[in-house]
Amino acid sequence: MYPFIFRTVFARLGAETAHRLVVPVIRVLGVWPFAPIVRAITRPDPRLRTEALGLVFASPFGVAAGFDKNAVMTEGLYALGFGHVEVGTVTAVPQDGNPKPRLFRLIADRALVNRMGFNNAGASAAAQRLTRARRRTRRAVLGANIGKSRIVDVEHATADYVTSTKLVAPVADYLVVNVSSPNTPGLRGLQAVETLRPLLEAVRDAAGTTPLLVKIAPDLRDDEVDAVARLAVDVGLAGLIATNTTISRAGLATPAAEVAAIGEGGLSGAPLKHRALEVLRIVRAAVPDGFCVVAAGGVETAADVRERLDAGADLVQGYTAFIYCGPLWARQINRALAQH
Ligand code: FNR
Repeated sequence: MYPFIFRTVFARLGAETAHRLVVPVIRVLGVWPFAPIVRAITRPDPRLRTEALGLVFASPFGVAAGFDKNAVMTEGLYALGFGHVEVGTVTAVPQDGNPKPRLFRLIADRALVNRMGFNNAGASAAAQRLTRARRRTRRAVLGANIGKSRIVDVEHATADYVTSTKLVAPVADYLVVNVSSPNTPGLRGLQAVETLRPLLEAVRDAAGTTPLLVKIAPDLRDDEVDAVARLAVDVGLAGLIATNTTISRAGLATPAAEVAAIGEGGLSGAPLKHRALEVLRIVRAAVPDGFCVVAAGGVETAADVRERLDAGADLVQGYTAFIYCGPLWARQINRALAQH
């Protein structure tokens, strides 16, 4: 059914338009009387219960950042069976993001390219929405992912991240420092250990007791991945997310001219799978047991989730395959995971 709807409706619309149409539908699924009905169909098997970051997740599989940038779909996504929802990226200063079009499908590759540029209503609005969502669904695990406001220079990034931290950390179950999106100039340069240490220390101090993670790019060299993972442990972070989207365009089935015409942005989905798994393995080898490693990048099936868990991930996230697999994606994954 969903492949038919995708081909006949969504694929004819721009990718961002399709996303905009889906938002109110997912929101409705999260409110009474729909939420309990949907939840009855999608509730993860109790065997999938996972403990990480001092929290209890109904499933190890959750929604990666970027899908619900403004925390408006958390209850609907929880109803659909995701074990957690990572809200954001939010920035201290609300911003429109890059000019459209900025989201593109590579259907032959089951991939997306995006250069959204952190379009979001700001950390303060997100904090208010998270507070309301918290009251309604106590059991959903809600993370908040923060990034640098575009108008703030890279040299002043720390203060900007700290502003967002103070707003969202008190109302989020965990907090993620995003230094790995390719669509904010200078952002990924913050992953260099010398600049990352003071940033992470300042955010850690502002985050209070909220578990703190850092999210890294797949485009780091192996030795850089290792160094950032060790730094995260050294600074006392609770975990690390591997990975964000890639700037690489290697190995795509989509014709090169079509890919070139899309232009800059982060590539996500199936083509990212191999490198994201490699990065996960490097991270796991560098960090002690008990340090939470979250896998993201090219996860589509329960077998993909299982592979990440077997490689040492505590939690797994997905985004792009949701577009290609449809609303029952989390349910399908949870069911298959519970059978093995
Ligand atoms: C993203 N991603 C992302 N990550 C992040 O930390 N902050 C963000 O705001 C966004 N925004 C965003 C928008 C779009 C349209 C996509 C497709 C992705 C990256 C996302 O969270 C994830 O790390 C990657 O997409 C890899 O996972 P998938 O998509 O291959 O499952």
